[in-house]
Amino acid sequence: MVKLTGKKKIPIAVFISGRGSNLKSIYQFSKNKNSFINLKLIISDKLLVKGVLFAKKNKIKTKIINYENKNIAEKQIINFLSKNNIKLICLAGFMKILSKKFVNRYKNKIINIHPSLLPKYKGLNTHERVIKMREKYSGCTIHFVTERIDSGKIIMQKKVRLKKSDTPKSLARKVLKLENELYPVAISKVISMI
Ligand code: GRF
Repeated sequence: MVKLTGKKKIPIAVFISGRGSNLKSIYQFSKNKNSFINLKLIISDKLLVKGVLFAKKNKIKTKIINYENKNIAEKQIINFLSKNNIKLICLAGFMKILSKKFVNRYKNKIINIHPSLLPKYKGLNTHERVIKMREKYSGCTIHFVTERIDSGKIIMQKKVRLKKSDTPKSLARKVLKLENELYPVAISKVISMI
């Protein structure tokens, strides 16, 4: 177990592919002196996305990974992770599937955020499906990453009640707000466990 005493913050990495709103909330949280995390590295498989622009603006170390060859890409990522002594990987809208080998190497050290109340609505287009099924509630889940998509042990969830007037767009907005609030809380919880 990592001792959360003294001034040393735990180095973490965030993996992104796009907008980066969760990245932003994790970054803001890391700036809080009681947060115990140091957002040391960002990995992105895309170059000109909002998340990367945010990282550059805030001078966070960012590595853009060419994913033409997954094996080589993951070797590069492992190299950056170990160079930066990363203790926890947070996936935040990262659209590449990590190999079994990679996931096993970082067992219980990779977490992901998903915009549904898992185990319901794994995969893509969650909000459309939730609305179609006339669910009363939706929400977000932070879970450990295993080789099976959106299936690892759940760390935290937060739910929101749907209105009859909700559309996939309005629901997405509500759930994203919850995601941005919950991710830093879940990271703190995991950090105190590793
Ligand atoms: C979020 O909805 C997250 O749950 C999903 O991808 C989206 C990423 O959003 N895995 P952002 O890039 O953090 O704004």
